[in-house]
Amino acid sequence: MEKIFDESIQGKSLSLEKDLKNKRNLYIESFGCAMNFSDSEIVASILATEGFNTTQELEEADLVLVNTCSIREKAETTVRKRLEKFNAIKKKRPHMKVGVLGCMAERLKSKLLEEEKIVDMVVGPDAYKDLPNLIQEIDAGREAVNVVLSKDETYGDISPVRLNSNGVSAFVSITRGCDNMCTFCVVPFTRGRERSRDPQSIVDEVNDLWQKGYREVTLLGQNVDSYLWYGGGLKKDFEKATEMQIATAVDFSDLLDMVAKAAPRMRIRFSTSNPQDMGLKVIRTMAKHVNICNHIHLPVQSGSNRILKAMNRLHTIEAYYELIDNIKKIIPDCAISHDIITGFPTETEEDHQATLAVLEYVKYDYGYMFAYSERPGTLAARKMEDDVPSEVKQRRLSEIIALQREHCMFRTKQHVGKVQEILIEGLSKKDNTMWMGRNSQNVVAVFPKETYKLGDFVNVRIHDCTSATLIGEAVGLSRTN
Ligand code: 5AD
Ligand code: SF4
Repeated sequence: MEKIFDESIQGKSLSLEKDLKNKRNLYIESFGCAMNFSDSEIVASILATEGFNTTQELEEADLVLVNTCSIREKAETTVRKRLEKFNAIKKKRPHMKVGVLGCMAERLKSKLLEEEKIVDMVVGPDAYKDLPNLIQEIDAGREAVNVVLSKDETYGDISPVRLNSNGVSAFVSITRGCDNMCTFCVVPFTRGRERSRDPQSIVDEVNDLWQKGYREVTLLGQNVDSYLWYGGGLKKDFEKATEMQIATAVDFSDLLDMVAKAAPRMRIRFSTSNPQDMGLKVIRTMAKHVNICNHIHLPVQSGSNRILKAMNRLHTIEAYYELIDNIKKIIPDCAISHDIITGFPTETEEDHQATLAVLEYVKYDYGYMFAYSERPGTLAARKMEDDVPSEVKQRRLSEIIALQREHCMFRTKQHVGKVQEILIEGLSKKDNTMWMGRNSQNVVAVFPKETYKLGDFVNVRIHDCTSATLIGEAVGLSRTN
């Protein structure tokens, strides 16, 4: 009897000690692509069950995690500068621990511990479920590293904690990794081989978001058109799939159809599409469902067939034009955006002119434009000299940006005079008497608040615009929720 009593007291005090120890603040900061922001929500969820509360105040943090990007050298420099800032905070909070997550963690591995003395823990994008163990290690004063890439980890079983959310739009990841091996890109090395998430877990997450008041989801993947579910496993192993698995496989078009039907009033977006994998079936599915937004992010990278080949982009510019023509034929008001790289090794003035010609042809709604940045370990870095001088890369980049700016204006003006459905996402940054939202084509619109609320779908008459913002007035709710 006495023994039992003793144990229960001891048990209580131990669990109290654990509770106190576990009531800690997690500060998590994300850089780079939407996938990183989405991953941070998975990390916050894993650590919530370990007793960590997320905080927005760096000065209150017991654990600081930085989810990093390696896509260009500048992205890594930004993270290193941020680590210096954490160092200053740590001087005031010596017990504070710092972990590096994401692509830089995967690329640099334990080298990061040597190069950045502030770092206690290095965790790659497939190892977040190991965080509880790794944190135990750093609590015990040891360094901790897990950069193992996985064949099947999709975090499909984890319900993300929505961070910095507007409560209206959310990311839902559908694939991880990339098998494309574009020669400039570090992603296949940092995020590993491509695998898809169980469609049912995607549908469940979207339904759950709807119940919680969310009205828009963006399905995320490095290359969404490559989505393929056949019961789990790597995309590249599909060739070993059984007849049954092949017959019941779900591709991206099927997934879009499933999600659009399961949540018929939820707005659905997706990113990123790859021209070599996007087929007519996907475009037709988009056309079939009013709740799938009319926007495709379709990186072209270059307009020169010679450069596309050197980049290992597995399509020609003619095939790209054909795809654009088909999109416009099937969905005439579909917005198209792009990514372009200037100054890839060996790029000549003629190649650059070919890229400008693509811009002229497509007249993209908007785009993301970058100067080539050599990434260690990629095929381009190993086999090609980074031979376009930086001033030339920058000049070509400025020319592309200037032309894109004209096209942004051209495309945005096309919405003026129309009534469009806008989903309210928050207050206008410039004027808090106005709501901010986006139309189906992903263009930002602002209009007077009146009696409308966050998350409402509102018909807005567009009467004016700048190059990136539509200005209008509400004419009524477009649907009742
Ligand atoms: N240098 C410059 N831009 C790059 N991107 C990817 N790798 C590099 C690099 N090494 C760009 C591509 C890609 C986008 C996400 O980033 O345009 O589509
Ligand atoms: Fe990188 Fe190409 Fe994969 Fe995109 S498709 S993540 S650019 S390798």
